[in-house]
Amino acid sequence: MSKVQDTGFLDKTPSLYSGGLLLNILGFHVIRTIFLSAWRLKPKNLNGRYKEILEILKQDGIVVIPDFFPRDQFDEIKKEYENLYADWKPSDFTYEKFNNRQKKFPEYFETIAERFVTPDTPAFVKYFMNNEMIREVTSSIVHRRIRTRPYHHFWFLQSRNPDKKVDRLHIASFPHADVPYPTIKVFLYLNDVDESNAAYTYAKGSHKLTLKRIMLEYKLSVRYSRNGDDKVTEEELNLLGYRSEHICGKANTLFISNNMGYHNRGIFSTTMPRITAQLDYRNLESWRNTLNRGGSNIISRLSKKFVKSLDNKTRLKNLAGISNNNMS
Ligand SMILES: [Fe+2]
Repeated sequence: MSKVQDTGFLDKTPSLYSGGLLLNILGFHVIRTIFLSAWRLKPKNLNGRYKEILEILKQDGIVVIPDFFPRDQFDEIKKEYENLYADWKPSDFTYEKFNNRQKKFPEYFETIAERFVTPDTPAFVKYFMNNEMIREVTSSIVHRRIRTRPYHHFWFLQSRNPDKKVDRLHIASFPHADVPYPTIKVFLYLNDVDESNAAYTYAKGSHKLTLKRIMLEYKLSVRYSRNGDDKVTEEELNLLGYRSEHICGKANTLFISNNMGYHNRGIFSTTMPRITAQLDYRNLESWRNTLNRGGSNIISRLSKKFVKSLDNKTRLKNLAGISNNNMS
């Protein structure tokens, strides 16, 4: 199992909002949004390859492909998930075991069992993470070369008590855009998912940078810098001409989602879990991805060396931290 390393600026990516209230009243977020996305309004042409998928992503911001993997490959991935989760019981939880993210929404996670694992298992890596179509399509949408591994997870969610209506206590349950520029997340349903077990929800077309979207971005940036509220209502989406839809599918349904578009986690009305394998390509916006060049010319070699030396420094710092902690 691997862990995302915190190497400061190397792994940072532009956030949803930035700057204070005054800056955003003056239009900073609008300028930022245009700067981050105007040069990638359309997918990069792949010489006719994956044309149909790219066309759907251009129009809708999401493409859904049922029965994606051959049955034996899907079974291998599912088996890896089952092995990794063999010792975990969704009913077994205490506040002390919550991670920091879960501690921010205690009431929600007391009711919604959640566990995610970062797998480096062979089938997950070979068939899913290294899938050529996914990589090429992602690269085309975000206009970046893929030089880093995406964040990757198995993600289990289940309501322990569907009568307890807690879904609205978590930001993931409200329509939101992850960032104001094209960014790709890929989901593979490992079990059958519909409206009753929190199917992913997406407002098709809402990934587009239109004048109305820019005006909404302005309003939201001012609202966020005023009171930290980053939720968008369905009515606000409807005013833009968009409507949230449940993305339901049987096990082995894959979808590629441009999360500049508005999306959210659905609501649980049963105890059926929602189990997914996920790839998150946000780190394509990081300096690590820019500097991690594949070539053998002098610039590529120097930039790779720079990344390596920063990583080594961080590793040494972390080691020193661990030994200091052990002393106290
Ligand atoms: Fe999101």
